[in-house]
Amino acid sequence: MSRYVGAIDQGTTSSRFIVFDRKGHVVSVAQEEHEQIFPRPGQVEHDPKEIWKKTRKVMKKALEKADLKPKDLVAIGITNQRETTLIWDRTTGEPLHNALVWQDTRNDRLVAEYAKDGGTNRFRDVTGLPLASYFSGLKLRWLLDNVKGARKKADAGEVLFGNIDTWLVWNLTGGVDGGLHITDVTNASRTQLMSLETLDWDEGMLKAFEIPRAMLPKIVSSSEVYGETKAPFEGVPIAGILGDQQAALFGQTCFTPGEAKNTYGTGCFALMNTGEKPVASKAGLVTTLAYRLDGGKPVYALEGSIAVTGSLVQWLRDNLGMIKESAEVETLAGTVEDNGGVYFVPAFSGLYAPHWNDAARGLIIGLTRYINKGHIARSVLEATAFQTKEVLEAMEKDSGIAVKELRSDGGMVANDTLMQFQADILDVPVVRPKVAETTALGAAYAAGLATGYWRDLDDLKQNWSVDHRWEPKMDAAQRKKIYAAWGRAVKRSFDWKT
Ligand code: G3P
Repeated sequence: MSRYVGAIDQGTTSSRFIVFDRKGHVVSVAQEEHEQIFPRPGQVEHDPKEIWKKTRKVMKKALEKADLKPKDLVAIGITNQRETTLIWDRTTGEPLHNALVWQDTRNDRLVAEYAKDGGTNRFRDVTGLPLASYFSGLKLRWLLDNVKGARKKADAGEVLFGNIDTWLVWNLTGGVDGGLHITDVTNASRTQLMSLETLDWDEGMLKAFEIPRAMLPKIVSSSEVYGETKAPFEGVPIAGILGDQQAALFGQTCFTPGEAKNTYGTGCFALMNTGEKPVASKAGLVTTLAYRLDGGKPVYALEGSIAVTGSLVQWLRDNLGMIKESAEVETLAGTVEDNGGVYFVPAFSGLYAPHWNDAARGLIIGLTRYINKGHIARSVLEATAFQTKEVLEAMEKDSGIAVKELRSDGGMVANDTLMQFQADILDVPVVRPKVAETTALGAAYAAGLATGYWRDLDDLKQNWSVDHRWEPKMDAAQRKKIYAAWGRAVKRSFDWKT
């Protein structure tokens, strides 16, 4: 009888379980959204118990849909929204607070304080990351400082820290009854607490951020059998963990230095494989782990993280009611020929790469009496493509490698207008693979490699093929003109929050 590999993809807006076959084809999928909690401007939370509940639900649903039992799965891989931070009581399993989502900026004062003494790049050498509200270390510090009793309990070893991967593995492997407390190198590399060189928690960082070591998970590789699931999905090896952007790089089979992908989701995350040595960024990217296979050397990546892309479309839908479904943005944008001179800088969580300006705030500029909804919709789509161009330019500067084509994935790759504009503004082809579920696929690959379901990386490469290729068509003068206007708009969004 055929056996499969399952992947949990716990993202910012939803949880999914996808079952893959050996060709990397989707056999079954189930998805559940979870609540986005916005207590104040700049704050975004998730309820960890809801996430755990929905994860179990999608696992059950996806298996039932294909008439499968847990034993039909060779292994499970986990991929997750990165940086989202939570702490919980190790004896009751109760979270002490909602999870602080990666987009949450409530720790910005801490960021500014640390930056006063040595600037935002003072921890880059060790961690690869600039000081920013984005990463987990200072989110954890905020929780320890602000949740009543948290620090005392953490010092006594009663509280555990985790990102979402850690939370799910702990619960899947038994929770209060001996759940595993682990995280993989890719997730750990987003905490700003791990040394890129030793791949262990860095004493200097723990001291600087005042984080007790006892609450931190053990750092493991991205592909090995960590343990088995407990009831109700009893006995399936959990054998892969990758942060979702690294999982997409893996799922796109970017195993060779210089290969790059961009995932168009809530935000956009462009990653380039840079091989076995970390490349320090001077152009505003972050240096991060791409993956480490069991017993293998670590592989590093340069990443351009963009906070708001797909979520801008959701904002247009949910906060302004301008469209009913996200897909309508393309129809609306199609009612006009161009952006009419409007530029939308979605600095809702400040700006990440390559600017790292926590105090930036969103703006729409270029409004005249001529502008209609269509122009706004177009400026929303173009914002994604312009931001991607900024990070790819930075990538080329840092790596010295020209990106020849961009492998794309994520929800927004269904948007033909955006993908064509992306190719136009980059002046390189944009390519979408046949299996567009690259994030979940990457986690499945990591788990399947550890359990012998797939032999090696070459085996995985066989599964990758092109579905669509967008060639650049825009003339150079036009490209230059509109990109320069975008650059001016971005500068105006800087340092707004006082
Ligand atoms: O760094 C944040 C990223 O991992 C979130 O990805 O796809 O859940 O929005 P996504």
